[in-house]
Amino acid sequence: MATNADYKPGVPYKEENERLYDGLLEVFAERKAATYAAHLLPLIKPDHFILDLGSGPGSITMDLARLVPDGSVVAADISSDWLGQSRELAKRQGVTNVTFEVADATNLHQFADDTFDIVHAHQLLYHVPEQVRAIREMRRVLKPNGIFSTRDLHTWLVSPSPPQLKGWRILFPQVVEKTGRSESFGSESHIVAHEAGFHKDKIEVSSWAWEMSTAKSRSAWVSGWKRLLTERAIEYGMATEEEMHGYEKAWEEWAGKGESRFIAVDGATLAWK
Ligand SMILES: C[S@@+](CC[C@H](N)C(=O)[O-])C[C@H]1O[C@@H](n2cnc3c(N)ncnc32)[C@H](O)[C@@H]1O
Repeated sequence: MATNADYKPGVPYKEENERLYDGLLEVFAERKAATYAAHLLPLIKPDHFILDLGSGPGSITMDLARLVPDGSVVAADISSDWLGQSRELAKRQGVTNVTFEVADATNLHQFADDTFDIVHAHQLLYHVPEQVRAIREMRRVLKPNGIFSTRDLHTWLVSPSPPQLKGWRILFPQVVEKTGRSESFGSESHIVAHEAGFHKDKIEVSSWAWEMSTAKSRSAWVSGWKRLLTERAIEYGMATEEEMHGYEKAWEEWAGKGESRFIAVDGATLAWK
């Protein structure tokens, strides 16, 4: 679950992220906290000090910052490029209560113990091979009674579901796991939170759904997975070039149809220190 034998520590995340997200970045940059942090919003108080870890393009971060007019948010990400983008977004949106830090979730040395009211990570932890270590760090920097919040995929489905993509659906999680990521961390995050030190009685779980069903997001999804999968599946000997070409064609046809839907189901975990 949390580690993968094929993962090589030191794999440059920046390069990995670019490979994964080039196509998807624009779509991610439209995310709203009202949808993607709905499990957390009722718990936010105007004076809270929040760490948004793995903040990426920053659209969720800015929404969080608007909810804490008497507090502030630290946007932290391992990628300085993405932090640069979120800094630009703050300027464009006139958000002044966000600061920006390059940080690795598994070593938050720049933050003292007991610092934040909330540490939030949206779609970060499935990327991190050492999840227990990361959550321990997140817990360490929380104030007593502070809130740990994470949200990742349980699963996803496509409609209509082309029969040519059956093999692809089996291949995808296998390749994702080989890269050290876990495709369905959303259904395990409560267990890992407990392993990382949160008491079972202080953990809450919930499930949420969202879609990437516009023409733009469907085509971004298809170009995003191609970057992640095609080269690697062939490199790892898990599929032939011809098979991958067939999958790409079927996905492109799917993305081109107006009625096609990509439906994702997330798992959220909240835990109190
Ligand atoms: C899928 S994106 C999510 C971005 C943002 N939370 C959102 O939902 O829009 C994952 C983010 O995690 C960052 N990331 C990956 N590994 C990380 C690590 N070990 N520490 C901190 N950030 C990391 C990536 O750079 C990327 O910005």
